[in-house]
Amino acid sequence: MIRTARHFAVAAATLAAGIAVAQQPAPPAFAPSNLSASGVRALAANCAACHGTRGKPAAGSTLAGLAGKPRDELLMAMTQFKQGRKPATVMHQLTKGYSDEELAALADYFSKQAR
Ligand code: HEC
Repeated sequence: MIRTARHFAVAAATLAAGIAVAQQPAPPAFAPSNLSASGVRALAANCAACHGTRGKPAAGSTLAGLAGKPRDELLMAMTQFKQGRKPATVMHQLTKGYSDEELAALADYFSKQAR
């Protein structure tokens, strides 16, 4: 009998904890959406090591600049990399890490940067 009561207490406590967790409000969004303005800037920072800050290649770089290129041209290249339709050494892998929406947002972002 005592044993059963203790089991009941444990079960009740577990249930209460479960309800407490379920009632927690959604955690604050510390990380902005990848598609918000700051989210896209954060994504674009991933490209800086190779394509330069804000897509402007460092002097002497042999890599293509992205800044100020037409949005559709950038998006087409990235989509073709992602689909394996454009030969690449790194971009075919890299683009697979981004959703189509993120690639479109990146193309939009870089097209608006000063060359
Ligand atoms: C590790 C280096 C590296 C990083 C990081 C990188 N790229 Fe590239 N990117 C390249 C290379 C190298 C090419 C040439 C194609 C190839 O060999 O993959 C290229 C080509 C491109 C092209 C085609 C340019 C053209 O005019 O032909 C676009 C667009 C592009 N990258 C966008 C991006 C974006 C957007 C990011 C960030 C999400 C990014 N790249 C990150 C190395 C990089």
